[in-house]
Amino acid sequence: MLAASALVALAFASCNYTVQAGEYCDLISAAKNVSTYQLAVVNADAVNAECTNLQPGQNLCLGTQGEDCSTTYVVQPDDTCDAVMQAHAINSTILYANNPQIDAQCANLYIGEVLCTANSVLVPPAPANGQIPATTIPASAQPASPTVNGDDEDLPFCDEIDD
Ligand SMILES: *[C@@H]1O[C@H](CO)[C@@H](O)[C@H](O)[C@H]1NC(C)=O
Ligand SMILES: *[C@@H]1O[C@H](CO)[C@@H](O)[C@H](O)[C@H]1NC(C)=O
Ligand SMILES: *[C@@H]1O[C@H](CO)[C@@H](O)[C@H](O)[C@H]1NC(C)=O
Repeated sequence: MLAASALVALAFASCNYTVQAGEYCDLISAAKNVSTYQLAVVNADAVNAECTNLQPGQNLCLGTQGEDCSTTYVVQPDDTCDAVMQAHAINSTILYANNPQIDAQCANLYIGEVLCTANSVLVPPAPANGQIPATTIPASAQPASPTVNGDDEDLPFCDEIDD
């Protein structure tokens, strides 16, 4: 189907990253400017949602050079979607389009997550099964904002996704 063939095309584009011992997905994402979402999608057939099954020597795809998001930002303690959007001069439509794993309240950002902060939609198509991979916060990760409790009063921009 369309999404599957698109994914195969992506997979052939740049699949020559070799995992080293001790590496994990977000470490690779941060080093290579590949968003958490993009790395998960283009390797959805090989890497599980929590990224706990990487093997040293394994080849990963990073995406398609020139067509993927290489403008990235690593989430820091106390970050919010608002702060990320302001710092990178992007709106919530673009932030959510490029990082579909972020929930509607922006309550699931975690420290070390790699976001695409490009100001245009640069995101690989979702896998054919429609599931967004890596939506589970890794056990090792901490929420970015300790005050998040589902109350999005201080996150007005996150509501604009409905537009
Ligand atoms: C390996 O990946 C890089 C981008 O990371 C790409 O420029 C290069 O063409 C790739 N080489 C092969 C043999 O696929
Ligand atoms: C990642 O982005 C930073 C900031 O733009 C840049 O300095 C760095 O060279 C990039 N790294 C790679 C592997 O593209
Ligand atoms: C969000 O930003 C994009 C890129 O600059 C722009 O095309 C779009 O109109 C903006 N959307 C809203 C709702 O402001």
